[in-house]
Order: sequence, then C-alpha cells, then structure tokens
Amino acid sequence: MLMNLEFYILHSTFCILTDNLQPHNLQPLKSLMPDNKVFTPEMTADGSFTFFCSEIGESYHSRQGAIEEAQVKFVKPCQLAQKAQQPVLRLLDICYGLGYNTAAALGEIWTQNPHCHVQLVALELDSTVPQAAIAQGWLNHFRDPIPQLLEALATTGLVETEQFQAQLYLGDARETIQQVQQGNFQADAIFLDPFSPPNCPQLWTLEFIQHLAQCCSDTGRLATYSCAAAVRIALITAGFTIGSTIEVGNRQPGTIASFTEANLPSLSIREQEHLQTRAAVPYRDPNLSDSASGILHRRRLEQQNSLLEPTSHWKKRWLRVDS
Ligand SMILES: C[S@@+](CC[C@H](N)C(=O)[O-])C[C@H]1O[C@@H](n2cnc3c(N)ncnc32)[C@H](O)[C@@H]1O
Repeated sequence: MLMNLEFYILHSTFCILTDNLQPHNLQPLKSLMPDNKVFTPEMTADGSFTFFCSEIGESYHSRQGAIEEAQVKFVKPCQLAQKAQQPVLRLLDICYGLGYNTAAALGEIWTQNPHCHVQLVALELDSTVPQAAIAQGWLNHFRDPIPQLLEALATTGLVETEQFQAQLYLGDARETIQQVQQGNFQADAIFLDPFSPPNCPQLWTLEFIQHLAQCCSDTGRLATYSCAAAVRIALITAGFTIGSTIEVGNRQPGTIASFTEANLPSLSIREQEHLQTRAAVPYRDPNLSDSASGILHRRRLEQQNSLLEPTSHWKKRWLRVDS
C-alpha cells in the first residue's frame, strides 16, 4: 500500500523540470512552486491514487474514490454522455490538478461519440501537479489516446489534434479566468474543483463565480463537489438555478448549476433551509485579489452582523428530525 509514502521521482519528465534531481535519484518530489511543497501519494477507496497536499492539509480528491468522484460529482451531473452527441463540446476545468476530471470527461465523451471534437480550457496554479500525476502513470487508467493527450498538455500546455484542442493556463485562476472570458469561451460544462472553501476561499467567492457564469453557455452546466451554503448562494446570485447531485455512501451531495434547466435534481427542504442561515453568507473578493485570510475575515464579520438564523440552530432542528 502506498498510503503516506513520500513520492519519489522515477520518471525522466521530472528530470527535465528539476535542476537538482537526477534520473532514478530517489528524492521526494519538490514542486517548482516557491514553497517547495512535497507530493505524498495516497490510495483512495476505489483503488485510484491521489496526492495529499501538506501545505493545505487536504487531499486533491475524496478519499472515498478519486476517479469515482470525477465520475459522480462532475461527469455525470454535467450530462456529458448526452452532450457528446454535439459535434463540438467545450469544457472548462477550474483547478485541473491531476487531470482526473478532464480524463474522466474525455473517456465518457469519446465512448459515446468518438467523433465529438472537444475543446478544453484548463486552469491550474501549479504546473507540477499534472506533471506529477503523469510521472506516476496514474492517467494510464484511462483509455488511449487520453494519457498521451494529457501528457502533452501537462508538458507543453497546448494540444491540437483533429479530435482535441486544449490549453492549460497556468497561474491564479482569478487572473486566468479573465483571459478566458476575453476570448469569449462559452463552456458546455464547467468543473469547479478547488480545495475546500475554508482552505481556498479565493475560488469560491461570489465575484469569481460571476466570472465563471460569464464563461458558461446558455445551455451549459457547472458542477462542483461542494454543497456549502455560501457556494450555493453565490451560484444563485450569479444567475444559476441549482440542484443537488446524488449522495454516494455517506458522502455529502455536490451541486449542479445551469441557467435554463428547470429539471435539475431539487434541493431537499433541509438544504433549502440551510440557504437561509448564516452559513449562506458568501465569500467576497471585490477585486479578485484578496488573500485567503482577508476573505475569511471579511466573511466572519459579515456573519457576525447578519440577521440570518445561526447555522447551529438549523443543525439542532434537523438533528431532532433525524433522531
Ligand atoms: C482539489 S485539487 C483539483 C483536482 C483536480 N480537479 C483533478 O481532477 O485532479 C485543487 C487544485 O487547485 C489548484 N489551485 C489552488 N489554488 C489555485 C488558484 N488560485 N488558481 C488555480 N488553481 C489553483 C491546486 O494546485 C490543485 O491542483
């Protein structure tokens, strides 16, 4: 079992990228990011692997199944099997990470329609994350030509074939989303997959989500694993109608959003009431440039002054209903 083992470099790709490491020199992989973060592989419950990010204190995927999460929380709610019948399908992958959401999406689309031309825009802060997943061979789980295409994307940032056109924008997604918007990219499916709101509030703010809304086509869908009330309210405020994605095992549901569809799986009464509590005070970042701590602090102050019901009251009420 590879759980909690340090990630050691055995792949030549990384020898191009790292000055101080040689092929087959067993060193923990240090990111090219200034903080020198170390990637630690973890096996998840469906047998697929993810990394643990020590800097954030969070895994890149659910421990209940990394690839299963990509399918259940992103690919299926976005209805990619149906959308694959279109001649061209546009994907916007926010926080590309290891590339699992994109890989699972391509697998589904090309199973349904091998002729569907996919245009992908992927945003990621740290180039070494997708490269580390490639180096581990984890993308090989997906069928050809997905591993080869995504290796090229992780290495060069740009891929263009008859079937697939993709660009990986590196940097803070709060900045790169503005470039995507200027290019008038209109996605059929948006995957919103940052680290959790308390750890990465920058990418869950009302202002950032409003930018995502600008990049979503009229018939597009946005999927996220989060069911946080603050995120759901931000989606609604940005003009989306939202629904709840299915709960698997003891997992929390995710959220699916769209502008036009009335037939989204509806929120339970409990979830609707959650949106009336202080948990629903959204994260705010007016200039898309505040620090995580600044965003959290602003929200705490707004919650303290809020007239909404304290979330603890809502929790207690529903505990009584459950027991
Ligand atoms: C939960 S992981 C994403 C997993 C990924 N979607 C996948 O399928 O493998 C979150 C990712 O967000 C990236 N990230 C963190 N802050 C970011 C930012 N400000 N802009 C863009 N990406 C960011 C991290 O480097 C990390 O790869």
